[in-house]
Amino acid sequence: MQYNRGFLLKLFVIFYFLKIVSSKVEFTNINCTSWDPEFSDFEYCYLKSVNRSYKYMSLKVNLYKVPINVIKVNIAALKRFNGYKPFLYNATVDACRFLKNPKSNPVFSYLHNMFRSFSNMNHTCPYNHDLVVEKLNTNFLNNHITSALPVPEGDYALQTSWFANNILRATVLVSITLS
Ligand SMILES: *[C@@H]1O[C@H](CO)[C@@H](O)[C@H](O)[C@H]1NC(C)=O
Ligand SMILES: *[C@@H]1O[C@H](CO)[C@@H](O)[C@H](O)[C@H]1NC(C)=O
Ligand SMILES: *[C@@H]1O[C@H](CO)[C@@H](O)[C@H](O)[C@H]1NC(C)=O
Ligand SMILES: *[C@@H]1O[C@H](CO)[C@@H](O)[C@H](O)[C@H]1NC(C)=O
Repeated sequence: MQYNRGFLLKLFVIFYFLKIVSSKVEFTNINCTSWDPEFSDFEYCYLKSVNRSYKYMSLKVNLYKVPINVIKVNIAALKRFNGYKPFLYNATVDACRFLKNPKSNPVFSYLHNMFRSFSNMNHTCPYNHDLVVEKLNTNFLNNHITSALPVPEGDYALQTSWFANNILRATVLVSITLS
């Protein structure tokens, strides 16, 4: 889908005056699944509420067969209507190629910027160490998500499926509410 800026601006203004542009992100759930525990496993994966305004997610993946040179990631956005349904975005990217040239994929670059400063998944392949995302917090996400996209309120989930050497190894599902 290709929209020009004028169209997006109008859409934003409409959402803004209908007051359905979200201004607040809350984590509601996280589910990390390892499909191949001999290849990789989650040491931890959780949400934490420190206080009303500071909530974060952390996860750590132990990798048992390093180095990894071929990584693909499928990212699908879901929105809850009657159960979670696919919403707007579902694409697979060659992560090693992307990391060499982040500008090649603006949507993925946006998603990567959402967690790269909280993670050690911030360099080019190969990967020969455990992977972490530490304290990715809702304050940061509030700014990142709502400053760039006019997303209507609702319950959403972002499902990421991780393939190493073209085999599905892990799935991370993060559910959020935009209000
Ligand atoms: C987490 O996701 C896996 C894989 O989709 C599923 O089998 C499992 O039931 C889910 N766990 C929870 C607590 O929802
Ligand atoms: C919430 O916790 C964070 C991190 O410990 C702290 O910086 C912040 O001041 C706290 N906010 C309130 C309202 O207590
Ligand atoms: C995303 O698209 C792929 C390929 O068409 C499909 O197999 C997969 O189920 C989709 N994912 C979701 C969450 O809908
Ligand atoms: C990647 O993240 C690690 C850990 O947060 C940090 O020490 C390192 O400087 C970062 N590297 C790059 C290239 O941003």
